[in-house]
Amino acid sequence: MTQIERAEGDASGKVILFGEHAVVYGSPAIAAGIERGAHASATRFVGGPSILRIGDRELVADPSGEDDLSRAFHALLDMSPTLPAMRVEASSGLPAGGGLGSSAALGVAIARAAQALVGADDNLALARSAAWERVFHGNPSGIDATAAARGGIFRYSRIDGASPLHPAKDIVLCVGWTGEPSSTREMVEYVASRKAKEPQLIQRSIDAIATIVNNAALAIEAGEHAALGELMNMNQLVLSGLMVSTSELEDLCAVAREHGALGAKLTGGGGGGSSIALVAPAFTEDGAHDQMREAENADRIVVAWRRANPRYDGFVVRIYADKPAKYSEGEAP
Ligand code: PMV
Repeated sequence: MTQIERAEGDASGKVILFGEHAVVYGSPAIAAGIERGAHASATRFVGGPSILRIGDRELVADPSGEDDLSRAFHALLDMSPTLPAMRVEASSGLPAGGGLGSSAALGVAIARAAQALVGADDNLALARSAAWERVFHGNPSGIDATAAARGGIFRYSRIDGASPLHPAKDIVLCVGWTGEPSSTREMVEYVASRKAKEPQLIQRSIDAIATIVNNAALAIEAGEHAALGELMNMNQLVLSGLMVSTSELEDLCAVAREHGALGAKLTGGGGGGSSIALVAPAFTEDGAHDQMREAENADRIVVAWRRANPRYDGFVVRIYADKPAKYSEGEAP
């Protein structure tokens, strides 16, 4: 095996602020890339099959491999134009099954490193990562891969693709981890099975979520954070009705609200994974963000989560008003 080149790729994790599950059925959703994400480095070599190493797992790209990872890696490399044999090392700073888009971030980071290795530009990375994502869950809406590739805060639908939102103020969220990983595939299949049995009932929930998303986009761009928090609570109620919440997710939301959050909901597929809580903004007398008081507001929530249950944990994410997403309007994977 002759090592001839090396290239790197990075991608963001994401939080879905509004609209998970409904987005699978063409409804809009709002998501934002977060700083935590995934990294990959690719090394080309001659004379061997492509190998992926993540942590202490090492797999060969194989279309009929038993492991999802080995089929996903094959799908990513095999998409036309097929990429040459390579060895890829990847790592994610996001909990697997945490509802924070870990698998899409890995897919985009690996696709970026692989594309860079052959000197191709970034534009196929999103499509390659979509091929990767389809192995893990049969019917991804594409919102995770879009956030992983683009960052920023955006509105997304399968029909219209992504368009950036322009928050009037920074949005500070606490991300709470239940300690229970969940399978997005199972949760999406569960909602699909309920929709097959009770199409009108589930469609009403999807329509309610679409209304919440449309109002949330307005609240974000108007800087109406009290309204935004209420809309998060409403979205959580509808998700609970879809039976994708758990007692731990409900507990994280309740604890956050008791400790000053303006609203809280699960994020991602549910059934475990993570929640988000909207931190009350604080301002100095001259109208600037009082980042110190905001940090205190956020800490109060994360500390309360850790006290409520030793399995819970949390971290803080800031979505900046003045950092636009890096993509053009309407672009879809
Ligand atoms: O669990 P996550 O982080 O992969 O988020 C899934 C979001 C869903 O709307 C439930 C599925 C999808 O493909 O959009």
